[in-house]
Amino acid sequence: MILQLLLILCLVLIILAAYFRYNRVGRLMSKIPGPPRIPIFGHIIILHKTSESLYQHLRSWHKTYGRLWKLDGLHLRAVNIYHPEDVELLLFNSIYNNKGMPYTFLKGWLGEGLLVSNGDIWHQRRKMLTPAFHFRSLNKYFNIFCAHTQSLLHTIENELDKEYIDIVPLMSKTSLAVMCETALGAKVQEMSSINSYLQSIHKLGECYVNRLITPEYMINNFYKLSCTARREKSLIKDVHNYTKNIIQRRRRNRNENNAGNIQENNLNEVKPMLDILLDEEAKGTIDDTGIRNEVDTFLFEGHDTTATALTFMIMRIANEPEIQDSIYEELQDIFGDSQRSPTVEDLTKMKYLECCIKESLRLYPSVPFLSRFIIKDIVLAGRTVPKDTMVHVHVFDIHRNPDVYPEPEKFRPERFLPENTVGRNPYSYIPFSAGPRNCIGQKYAMMKMKTLMSGLIWKYRLEPVTKPEDLVFILDMVLRTNHPIYVRFRPRENLP
Ligand code: HEM
Repeated sequence: MILQLLLILCLVLIILAAYFRYNRVGRLMSKIPGPPRIPIFGHIIILHKTSESLYQHLRSWHKTYGRLWKLDGLHLRAVNIYHPEDVELLLFNSIYNNKGMPYTFLKGWLGEGLLVSNGDIWHQRRKMLTPAFHFRSLNKYFNIFCAHTQSLLHTIENELDKEYIDIVPLMSKTSLAVMCETALGAKVQEMSSINSYLQSIHKLGECYVNRLITPEYMINNFYKLSCTARREKSLIKDVHNYTKNIIQRRRRNRNENNAGNIQENNLNEVKPMLDILLDEEAKGTIDDTGIRNEVDTFLFEGHDTTATALTFMIMRIANEPEIQDSIYEELQDIFGDSQRSPTVEDLTKMKYLECCIKESLRLYPSVPFLSRFIIKDIVLAGRTVPKDTMVHVHVFDIHRNPDVYPEPEKFRPERFLPENTVGRNPYSYIPFSAGPRNCIGQKYAMMKMKTLMSGLIWKYRLEPVTKPEDLVFILDMVLRTNHPIYVRFRPRENLP
């Protein structure tokens, strides 16, 4: 009896394997190279690694299999792309704009927020929120960037007795505070739960990576029964409580200040993003859940990405003393002996610093890979990739292509001088993604980074502790290491 059952099982597996291999999708996918796989289960087993090891493997598979390679298992499949021409085909055309797996993991947390939504909802929200990041709004946010730069300098001053500082939590808290105040009109000092919010979202990141690298995620109903799913649910509850609190406060404040009248009197007033959403709620174009989804999205996407970018940049500049001197010289040319606060015009003069920020985002893109779920076949690198496939864009490796960036590991800001970018395919540099679904906060992020970095380097000399070669990256939604990142700060007035 058992033997018969085993025989039937084998037969079913053979039929399934033959079906998956020889149907249209199987035939197309078989032409795309990839690591060795087993029938039906594909690469599921070899993907079961630690997130450090997986990060390394993904990089080495690119070296082995080149411009287009695949991973698959059960009903899921993904291809990985690197070539700017392939990236352009995917990102430029709005037909391929769809976010599916793995962004669907984020739905429990971010709902229909801009990062994960699709179709009409995405379109309507993108249009609704774009004015909050118009240059007029940015100029207003600039004062908040300056105020938080000063707070950051004070925090560092209070920690100078330490030999060196872990800049990861420092940048996270600063970035979150700036995001709360600019986009949500909330002062973070009022929020006692900032640390637990940050912890919860970092743990949520771990849950999502677990989902990516464990076979159970492939079968959603199994996943729902797992411990990770229960943990994820409770973390999401903590995070939602934090954002609900911010929204309620803002609603209350607006009601108390009779915001309706103010709005009519000050048509030119620049509003934080949350006020735009609350106004839209009054018009009936978005509901309470929609508002919370966007607040969750912006709080996460807006603070974590910038904090990451600043962290790696500070570490790298500390390790590049000559480049740091050149940034300081540029600041001396702008400020001379004065200790005045910077202006928006000063920022436009910081051309060398801007090249350094770009070079840092090349080497350490906060979003190391992005993905689309294609709903129509696409031809990439001469191969037809069937619809319903995930296409992963590996920004980290695209930015390290030696044909585009000779000696790619070297930090060379002059790569971004206008004369040196002539003829470079714009899709070979995509820290903010590209095309219609690019980063809505790109200009905001650049302005914030310039303000913070110039303030920091003007007051302190950054000295190396963690070195670029010490970094061990892990697979996560945002570029992270499995260890702290330390830097020493020396007040310039104490330097010989
Ligand atoms: C250095 C800082 C930043 C980097 C490197 C960055 C990078 C990116 C990237 C690569 C994407 C595309 C993601 C994808 O397609 O999967 C993206 C999307 C997005 N970013 Fe940023 N970002 C940064 C800062 C910000 C800031 C400050 C905000 C908010 C103020 C923001 C809000 C968003 C939103 C809402 C999306 C989704 C846009 C859409 O799908 O329409 N980002 N960002």
